[in-house]
Amino acid sequence: MAVLGALSLTLEVPDVVPGVAFYTDAGLVADIEGQVARLRCEGQDRESVILLGGYPKKRLHHISLRADDLDGIAGRVAAQGGEVVSAPAGFADNGLWVTDPNGMLIHLSEQPADPELAEATPFEVNAPGRLLRKRRSAVLPRTAYTPVRPLRLGHILVFSPDVDSSVAFVTSALGMGLADRAQDVIAFTCARKDSDHHVVAFAKSPAVGFHHASFQVCDPDEVGRGGRALLAKAGRGDWGFGRHTIGSNFFHYIQDPWGSWFEYYSDMDHIDDHALWTPTNYAMEDSLASWGPEVPHDFVHNYEADAAGQPSAPASHAA
Ligand SMILES: [Fe+2]
Repeated sequence: MAVLGALSLTLEVPDVVPGVAFYTDAGLVADIEGQVARLRCEGQDRESVILLGGYPKKRLHHISLRADDLDGIAGRVAAQGGEVVSAPAGFADNGLWVTDPNGMLIHLSEQPADPELAEATPFEVNAPGRLLRKRRSAVLPRTAYTPVRPLRLGHILVFSPDVDSSVAFVTSALGMGLADRAQDVIAFTCARKDSDHHVVAFAKSPAVGFHHASFQVCDPDEVGRGGRALLAKAGRGDWGFGRHTIGSNFFHYIQDPWGSWFEYYSDMDHIDDHALWTPTNYAMEDSLASWGPEVPHDFVHNYEADAAGQPSAPASHAA
């Protein structure tokens, strides 16, 4: 074993204030100390997103993964083109800090597993020949619903200038498994036991960067409801409601203040044992979605690779 799951991502940003507004609108809880904001899921006592303010533009600082066998990982990093490095200034020198062959900083640490999520009311549909719901409505009046709260960070998608070398690094050095891919353009990797379909994913781009963080919610209704509510507040782009082919999850992406994305998801494929999973190399037409709205023009644009760093102004939108 090695990597066991996602813990958090850390972003450099010009100012934490818009980021705190965005992520709290998304349903996370903020703890702010000057220009450092820590955002966590309600019900969890650890952060999922850390924003470091005072930088010229948004940039991925590092991702943090839960892992075991850190000594074993440390011994494999160099052979896969990575490097064991010191903790960056301001960060505790615990666990293991490494860079991958493309210079992305990864923090690996031994942490207790998150508590099991409470069992939710199953999302059931009346299907032909299979009527599960009778004499009651599935959908309540709007006022009956409380705001959607993410349950946990599920996965992080980052840009990579060389997806193949990124995948080779996390599978051979960090002990992850390749779940599925679409050519050399996008690839999805998981923990080898009891994992969401993907924990870390890579999309091809001229430079390393942060694309999106994805948070699990209870069911497809919460994906839709949460997505519409956050879009109305954030005022930038969105993509969804839709369903991915790769991973099978329902999704709604909302653009953050810097042009990257926040995803609500539900019903993702689960890989209990990677040795019993067969990775598929999909055609590009399957790389984004099985169905959904038109993909925004900048959905896979890496603003971190631009000199300006982020889109200039929020797009107008209809709430
Ligand atoms: Fe995602």
